Amino acid sequence: MDWGMQNRMQRIFKPEDNRTVMLAVDHGYFLGSISRLEEPAKTVEPLLPFTDSLMITRGILRNCINPRYNMPIVLRVSGGNSILSEDLSNEGLTVSMEDALRLGACAVAISVYVGSAHEHETLLNLAKLVDAGQEYGIPVLAVTAVGRELEKRDARYLTNACRIACELGAHIVKTYYCDDFQKVVESCPVPVVIAGGPKLKSELDVLEMAYNAIACGAKGVDMGRNIWQSQWPIAMITAIRSIVHKNTSAKEAYGVFCSLKDKK
Ligand code: R5P
Repeated sequence: MDWGMQNRMQRIFKPEDNRTVMLAVDHGYFLGSISRLEEPAKTVEPLLPFTDSLMITRGILRNCINPRYNMPIVLRVSGGNSILSEDLSNEGLTVSMEDALRLGACAVAISVYVGSAHEHETLLNLAKLVDAGQEYGIPVLAVTAVGRELEKRDARYLTNACRIACELGAHIVKTYYCDDFQKVVESCPVPVVIAGGPKLKSELDVLEMAYNAIACGAKGVDMGRNIWQSQWPIAMITAIRSIVHKNTSAKEAYGVFCSLKDKK
């Protein structure tokens, strides 16, 4: 791996443990103004001191995030549809590699929709993006997206989707946690991080999911709604950090969450 590529990977994954707490705030690229991201800066800025890398779109980065922050950016570069479309898999590339570089991106992120109507295009877009990234030393994060078909999130599907993303050259794969998650991680030779998905019933459920993912070999989280839609986002991200970087159990992390939550 070239020096630039290695350096960017190490800015995202902390060299001490090769893990990351990536904060995902890119949802607006197809959802628009969702709850708690109506004014992105208000939600995101207080969380930055607890964040290793930020997954975001170029519009919100340019307009809402102060460039003074020294935050590794994972730039969402795919899109082209909205929640109002019937088929969410119809995504194309939305940002040139030159603009990603202009923004100082550490990595670029694209969704692939394995098994969907637009599987072919999204997989070829991933391959093209990897080629462009190789040229400039920019890693590519592939998201194994499922659109509305949340039931697809099982080990067989996700193992194959992650592996296909890796085979096409992705440097990082983001996927969902599922039963038998170890199989997903074992078959994917590049670092795997998990999305949180829609908000879960309780904070403990989220912490248990994060703990199980790390125990199965995930290299961190790329989580959004279960952090910033929580009533206590700082307590939540701090508890997640303790799992990712301090190997605490879900129960210990819940203790961290409760102690910080009670202070507010
Ligand atoms: C999809 O909307 C984006 O790729 C999100 O970044 C991803 O789903 C992670 O966010 P969450 O933890 O809210 O699912």
